[in-house]
Amino acid sequence: MSAQPPPLPQPAFGNYQNDIYLRALGGVLPDLPMAYAELEERAAAALPPSVWSYVAGGAGDETTQRANTEAFARWGLYPRMFVGASSRDLSVELFGRTWPAPLFMAPIGVLGLCAQDGHGDLAAARAAARTGVPMMASTLSVDPLEDVAAELGGTPGIFQLYTPTDRDLAESLVHRAEQAGYAAIAVTLDTWVTGWRPRDLATGNFPQLRGHCLGNYLTDPVFRRLLGKDPRDDPQGAVLLWTQIFGKPLTWDDLGWLRSITSLPLIVKGICHPEDARRARDGGVDGIHCSNHGGRQANGGLPALTVLPDVVAAAEGLPVLFDSGVRSGADVVKALALGARAVGLGRPYAYGCALGGTDGIVHVLRSVLAEADLIMAVDGYPTLADLTPAALHPLP
Ligand SMILES: Cc1cc2nc3c(=O)[nH]c(=O)nc-3n(C[C@H](O)[C@H](O)[C@H](O)COP(=O)(O)O)c2cc1C
Repeated sequence: MSAQPPPLPQPAFGNYQNDIYLRALGGVLPDLPMAYAELEERAAAALPPSVWSYVAGGAGDETTQRANTEAFARWGLYPRMFVGASSRDLSVELFGRTWPAPLFMAPIGVLGLCAQDGHGDLAAARAAARTGVPMMASTLSVDPLEDVAAELGGTPGIFQLYTPTDRDLAESLVHRAEQAGYAAIAVTLDTWVTGWRPRDLATGNFPQLRGHCLGNYLTDPVFRRLLGKDPRDDPQGAVLLWTQIFGKPLTWDDLGWLRSITSLPLIVKGICHPEDARRARDGGVDGIHCSNHGGRQANGGLPALTVLPDVVAAAEGLPVLFDSGVRSGADVVKALALGARAVGLGRPYAYGCALGGTDGIVHVLRSVLAEADLIMAVDGYPTLADLTPAALHPLP
């Protein structure tokens, strides 16, 4: 019997800081921001005002959006000594694949518009290929899902479905994603209607109504059949049709159908209540995505991090993905300790995209991973299994 090959060395994400310090010795300082506040500030200046306010804004007076980020400050990690965490293993098994780290890019519908060349979805896919960080690709993309998949390299992609009212169209999008090689389907549950967004209302700013980010629809055979003509001959008619079919208000009765239309792992995004987690698990999903859409959909809600532990308990071992309010490697570590199997980054990588396309996104991902890895090193948590709720203490 031949010996097992030695395990692949784990990428040392923290080494990103060595690269930066070494380049600085040669007189080269980072041209992309190292701190989140500067990332946000520079993205605000780099993006057209309408795109900036669409990405940065949220529902109502944005209390829930702010609460998402503030919730992380209510927890602190115990530093543990004499652990000698000289190498860390951040790899995680998810949906039949090994991810190098428990981090992914959450779907961002206007990502295409965030890149200076108007192809942010492709930029993110290329960043996924370069970092191994999986991308959850939005239904609302400039470039069709096939073109996005073609840039992913060997990194898994997850196709995020906004379920249209027309079942044939929903099935067509899912089957295209299967054909294109996506590793899973994530169905977003909290956005069949747009939430109340004062920033966008004040400027009449709704990108899709202006024909943006509809690449997946305009290239879809079912959508084109429903339109009855080539969308290029009737762009306004295509947008009108899109408004009519975009969002299906799903009920539990739809879960069996969603489960039946794909053999890929099925994830449901937007679950924030343990009872919903339990029901989704019983309905045969493969993963639960705890998220409140970054506070963009309903103001007055609970921070996603607050509901995460109960959702994890109710999921009874089913993988729980998490996003909403993650801004740093420290936030990633805390969400993992509270039970997330993998953590999604949202706005920060869109800002990286605005500043530097693929390079900008790679920088943001590598920075977040480096910080998470170095916290695990300094605080003595060498593996993800060491990050449990007992590693955290609530702050007064
Ligand atoms: C501009 C923007 C567009 C988004 N588009 C989508 C989308 O198309 N599909 C989806 O499921 N979630 C979408 N989301 C929600 C994100 O996937 C994620 O839940 C959210 O960004 C997390 O909050 P955070 O960015 O504040 O951390 C979007 C978020 C933003 C900021």
